Amino acid sequence: MAVSDQNTVGSVLNAATAYLAGKGIAEPELVCSHLLSCLLNCKHLDLHLHSGEILGEKLLAAMRRGIKRAATGEPVQYIVGHWELMGHRLKVDSRALIPRSETEILVQRVLDCEAVWNEEAPVVADVGTGSGCIVIGLALARPEAAYVALDPSSEALDLAKENAEAMGVGDKIAFAPAELPDIVDPESLTAIVANLPYIPTADYEQLPSVIRDFEPRSALDGGGDGLDVIRSVVQDATMALKSGGRIFLEIGAEQGAAVKSLLEAEGFSDVAVLPDLASRDRVVEGRYEGAY
Ligand SMILES: C[S@@+](CC[C@H](N)C(=O)[O-])C[C@H]1O[C@@H](n2cnc3c(N)ncnc32)[C@H](O)[C@@H]1O
Repeated sequence: MAVSDQNTVGSVLNAATAYLAGKGIAEPELVCSHLLSCLLNCKHLDLHLHSGEILGEKLLAAMRRGIKRAATGEPVQYIVGHWELMGHRLKVDSRALIPRSETEILVQRVLDCEAVWNEEAPVVADVGTGSGCIVIGLALARPEAAYVALDPSSEALDLAKENAEAMGVGDKIAFAPAELPDIVDPESLTAIVANLPYIPTADYEQLPSVIRDFEPRSALDGGGDGLDVIRSVVQDATMALKSGGRIFLEIGAEQGAAVKSLLEAEGFSDVAVLPDLASRDRVVEGRYEGAY
């Protein structure tokens, strides 16, 4: 990466962007401006206010290291080591999926469901917690509830625990590398919230390399029709939820009808598919009245 003599933020941004574009990296300006705003400790949108500032040797060296990693296709979120969801800054690294903004819709829907929070002592499970972004968002907004966060990946769980501790809610969440039936009593949960792997295997193979080569496959690949893990968690939910308990699932853009049928076949009522801002299926929710 060749920059001008002055090494101003603006000239570094231009040179780094041209360098990454030449390497075929998608959205190179966005990547470079994220790296620079992180180094300058300023908001991404405020970067232009710094464009005339000179970058010192230390920051320039750090920028070169970041650009070198970005040139391999590594996601900028892993390079800077943190990302925001619902206004909360979370540590992110290759142990878990990078939180996506769509997941805010799922978290907000749970927060808006008064039936969950009107219970005297709600117990909520986040299944497939990854970085912990969902359960941490809930625990910060609703500290009066108890939480369980599960993930078969002990690496992801370690990251989720680090995030929960850093956000001051570590003592509100029980983390376990387990499945629901192994860890919660039957009919004990008020709600289950889950963003599970839901990408059909054939679609997974076609994902851009910035995702496929860097984020954990076990966080994304949901099997033949994408619903293998969702199916299994919905079955476990019928054991774990109290009568009247709720489930909230993030789903793929075309999975609303299939997941609605799945929930209805397992005895859930009031099943609804909620769209995202682009009017694509994004969340399915339902209420479980109990087996008898
Ligand atoms: C799409 S990622 C979501 C992570 C995080 N909840 C988020 O929204 O960013 C799916 C997570 O589910 C976990 N997972 C995979 N198979 C699972 C299973 N059978 N039961 C529970 N979690 C599973 C993965 O390890 C991964 O952390």
